[in-house]
Amino acid sequence: MTEISFIDRVAIVTGAGGGLGKTYALDLAARGAAVVVNDLGGSTAGVGSDASAAQKVVDEITAKGGSAVASHDSVSTPEGGAAIVATALDSFGKVDIVINNAGILRDKTFAKLENQDLEAVLDVHLRGAFHVSQPAFRVMKENGYGRFVFTASNAGVFGNFGQTNYGAAKMGLVGLSNVLAIEGAKAGIKSNVICPIARTRMTEDILGPLAESVEPELVTPMVVYLASEACGLTHEVFSAGGGRYARVFVGLAPGWFAGKGVEVSADDVAAHIDDIRNQDGYIVPSSIADELQALLPLLQG
Ligand SMILES: NC(=O)c1ccc[n+]([C@@H]2O[C@H](COP(=O)([O-])OP(=O)(O)OC[C@H]3O[C@@H](n4cnc5c(N)ncnc54)[C@H](O)[C@@H]3O)[C@@H](O)[C@H]2O)c1
Repeated sequence: MTEISFIDRVAIVTGAGGGLGKTYALDLAARGAAVVVNDLGGSTAGVGSDASAAQKVVDEITAKGGSAVASHDSVSTPEGGAAIVATALDSFGKVDIVINNAGILRDKTFAKLENQDLEAVLDVHLRGAFHVSQPAFRVMKENGYGRFVFTASNAGVFGNFGQTNYGAAKMGLVGLSNVLAIEGAKAGIKSNVICPIARTRMTEDILGPLAESVEPELVTPMVVYLASEACGLTHEVFSAGGGRYARVFVGLAPGWFAGKGVEVSADDVAAHIDDIRNQDGYIVPSSIADELQALLPLLQG
């Protein structure tokens, strides 16, 4: 088996001062990457800041002979995102990999959710990924190489009580990655999504009996693979947790075709709802074009 190497690669890992991000930064650095360890260092709710979080991880990497630099900027503003990418360029001259991992939680039921909880979560997860990825994408396009990993969540992809803000932000990242995969294809840029399951400060109170089996280090290999040159995949989503690695996908079922030009009522839809929902023979479109391709033969008779 070929060993995955990151020699001469420069990686940005956001939210790498602890939890999952720290494990990614350590493994990338151990495999030769120069790493920007970014972390604002606030609480799980996104309150406060602490520059020592990122610095400790940098110290751990450099003590082992690796190469890393700390960044304490927040991903949640365009200026912060630009500064994180500038740190990579100033310190290491380029950026090859961005792992968008920074995250906070402001869980509330939908009826009780306040606008500030929505904004804070969108700012870090969804807008934060835009703020860091856009300046990095421009550099990668010039260099003809790039790897993005976006961190979604099963809470968004599958749904979870009390997390409308978080779930929407996380599912938004799937859309961002899908489009980036298409826009980056010609420039050798791959973009994929991870839905992790791991015991971290974010989840230690909610995992119950699963907690002892879901070490963050069991997510790391999937993310490091997706960040590597060995990964030729793009536009995909993976679940990783507890040593199980699985593709997650959005499929399109063949559905029910009413016939070209046929008038269709809600009653017709009700009558055919089982056909519409039938999953047999689904495809996994890799762009809008694939869906239109599936529709075209029906409309052409
Ligand atoms: N642990 C899980 O089971 C799980 C499940 C699904 C998704 N996730 C996602 O994985 C990612 C990592 O989470 P974790 O479980 O390691 O939790 P964590 O709290 O240990 O890590 C998140 C890190 O992001 C940093 N951060 C927060 N806001 C920031 C900002 N504005 N700028 C820069 N850094 C910031 C925090 O300081 C923290 O170190 C998050 O995006 C989270 O939503 C985790």
